[in-house]
Parts: sequence; structure tokens; C-alpha cells
Amino acid sequence: MVSRRVALTAAGVGIAGVAGAAAVGAAMMDDERSPASASPGDAVAFYGEHQAGIVTPAQDRLHFAAFDVITKDRAKLVEMLREWTAAAARMTQGRDAGLLGAVGGQAEAPPDDTGEALGLPASGLTLTIGFGRTLFRDAAGADRFGIADRLPAALEALPHFPGDALRPEISDGDLCVQACANDPQVAVHAIRNLARIGFGVVSIRYSQLGFGRTSSTSREQTTARNLMGFKDGTRNMKLEDTDLLREQLWARAEDGAAWMAGGSYLVTRRIRMTVETWDRTPLAEQEAIFGRDKGEGAPLGRAKEFDEPDFDAKGPDGQPAIAKEAHIRLAHPDFNNGAHLLRRGYNFVDGSDNLGRLDAGLFFIAYQRDPRKQFVPVQRSLARADILNEYIRHVSSGLWACPPGVTGDGDHWGRALF
Ligand code: HEM
Repeated sequence: MVSRRVALTAAGVGIAGVAGAAAVGAAMMDDERSPASASPGDAVAFYGEHQAGIVTPAQDRLHFAAFDVITKDRAKLVEMLREWTAAAARMTQGRDAGLLGAVGGQAEAPPDDTGEALGLPASGLTLTIGFGRTLFRDAAGADRFGIADRLPAALEALPHFPGDALRPEISDGDLCVQACANDPQVAVHAIRNLARIGFGVVSIRYSQLGFGRTSSTSREQTTARNLMGFKDGTRNMKLEDTDLLREQLWARAEDGAAWMAGGSYLVTRRIRMTVETWDRTPLAEQEAIFGRDKGEGAPLGRAKEFDEPDFDAKGPDGQPAIAKEAHIRLAHPDFNNGAHLLRRGYNFVDGSDNLGRLDAGLFFIAYQRDPRKQFVPVQRSLARADILNEYIRHVSSGLWACPPGVTGDGDHWGRALF
């Protein structure tokens, strides 16, 4: 094996040799890729005050789906939500989707579960539902299901941001389900079975597979890396930050929509990366763009990943150690009226485009109490000045009201709304 020293970072933190890099890879498989203090096969509780899949330690895989409601019949929609809830409660515990059993039912009818997750463990599966603006009012403003008066003010349509290249066919939607699991087959199975159960009531508008969490949502998890090779999620809101979560993650009745108390608002953005251009960018420039070094993930001018960034520090050239347009400065709460986000995005690679470039990037997922005060101002400051914009393009966007958790038998997704 070649044994050469690979200088991974201009800030001086290096990884010794290819063997060292392989060891880092192995450690990532063992530590970074599995939920904190649970084995990857374990089940996550479905019932609770809040929906699972928000502060749950981020699993390794994603299948996200946005649905259009294709019926005008409110009763059919509510019945489907009831059936979805029952199926979700079963599948998240490692069971099949159908009440008749995996291959149960009548021989002349399709089986009650598609079958591809039979024998697989629960794999940390969480299913998190969200409601889009268009469920409340259609494009012409008409009340589709008698819930227009419950449209939360916080679900105000996101503004256009400079540089947005959004494709309508992979944006928005009436409903969404975020399936996260440690086994891609389990996540895909869950979305597929919800779509099967919803036949005639909903149809999939678009869906997105993701791998390799790009955030940690618990202090017990090590920080994973995004496809630009940087540690991502270092200064994320985490499940241990209970006071901050109360203040910035969970919606309250007094925010305006009583049915959302204990819920949270979700912003999804499919962000394409021009990885080929990024891979030709000098290391020092990559690090200046984020304001962190690549090996350790420390803020520039500091030594360790979790050191607080010092935005006043100057480099040897007398310039700010963390550039004025660096990503971590522009996104920092100090420069955004104290706004925090709970990020839990995933990497994606959907093959390549017709120019032979990887169709790769970040499926950005962020939860918050009020996007008008959190995602919107942060994205405004990033869209205005972030040097990272040269290497990324936002191509899809979604905004969702994710209701509180289902509390037990008799309760179902959307009960308080409908
Ligand atoms: C921090 C990557 C897009 C909000 C970071 C960090 C990295 C990163 C490497 C530093 C580590 C950390 O604290 O997590 C990326 C990449 C993006 C992207 C590759 C696009 C492809 C966004 C967007 C937003 C955002 C769209 C929100 C509008 C934040 C926030 C922080 C952060 C709030 C923490 C800032 C702090 O408190 O220090 N991001 N990010 N990022 N990012 Fe992004």
C-alpha cells in the first residue's frame, strides 16, 4: 500500500497516509453513521408528544416524498390519514403495513404489504408527516377541504431568493412524508406502502432518496460530512438543547394555529452541487468559503471543531480570519436576529446529467418554530452574499406544517386539523 502523507487541510490538520484515510472511513461506518446509543436495527417509538424524525438522532438514509391530493372528498382524505397512521405505527415497529399481515388477504387481491421489508428489523424507521399550503387553499384561493381558516400564518409562501432555479414539478405539494431509517430498503418500503394505501386519494408528486446524513441532531453523534467533504451539523440545534428547542423548534398555540402546538415547520430544498468545479478549487479557498478547516472542522483561527467561532479575529494578513462572506458567518444566529435551525439533511447522487457531471448535492431539511423568522432571514443573507453560491443551485423547495405527535389509539395524523 502506498504510504504517503496526505495534507488534507491548509490549516495544518493532516491525515497520515492512505491507511489513515481508510481508518477514518471505517470509523465513520461504525460511529458516524449510526444513531446515538441505539443499535441501527432498533425501533423508534411512534407515539409521543412530538412526531419522531425531528429530534430523533439522524438516521443514515432518507426517502422523502411529496404528494398531491387527487380527491375532492374530505372524508376519503381523512380516512386515508387514519389508515396511514395505522400503517406507520406498524412499520416503524418493524412490522408489515397491513392489518391482514404481510401476505394476508385473499388470493385474488393484491397482498396487504409489498413484502420487500419482510424479515428486516425496524432499522430506526421514523415517518414524519407535513401539510403544505395548497392543502388549505388551491392556487385560486378556494378552500379545498374546509380547513382554509386553519392555515397557519407561519406557512406563508417562501419568497423568491436571488439565484433560485426552482423547478415547479419537484417543488411544493399538498402533503409530505419524510421516511428516515438506517436501511434504505426499509425507508423505500415505507413510502411505497403509504403510496399504495393512498391510491385514488393521493399521488406522488416527487420523491427524493438520500444517503449519509449531513447533520447530527444529538451530542452523542459524531459529525458526518457532506459531499463537499466538510463536517456538517457541528453547530446544529440538538436534542439535548431543551431550552433552545422549546424556544426555536416547537410551535405553540399562542403562535396562532392551536392545532400546530407541539408541531414544527419544515423547509426542504434540493440543492445541486457542481462537485466537479468544487473538486478543482484550492483547499484554502474551500476552507475560506465555509469559514472552517476541512480536516478538523474547526472555525478558522481556532483549533477544535466545537470551539466557538471568533468573528473578530484577524488572520496574519490583517483580514478577518473568517471572511465576511463565509457561510458560517452569514448563517450564524448572531447575524440573523438569534435565529437557529434544526438541520437534518442528506447527501444525494441521482446518477449523472447529459454533460457527464454527477447530479449530486444536499437535500436540505430544516425544522423550526417559524420559517418567517428563521429559514427566510438566514437564506436571505446566504443568497445575498455566500461565496458558496458559486458552487450550488437550489432547484426544489417545499414548506410544510408538521403537526404534533400522535398520542395513541384513536388519534391519527391530522386529527386536530380536520
Ligand atoms: C453551517 C454546509 C446550505 C444554514 C454549515 C456548515 C457547513 C454547511 C459545512 C458548518 C458546520 C455546522 O455548523 O454545521 C452547507 C452546504 C450547503 C448549506 C454544503 C448547501 C449545499 C445551508 C442553507 C442554510 C444553512 C440553505 C439555511 C438557509 C446553516 C446554519 C449553519 C450552517 C444555520 C450553522 C451556523 C452557525 O451557527 O455556526 N453549513 N450548508 N446552510 N449552515 Fe449550511
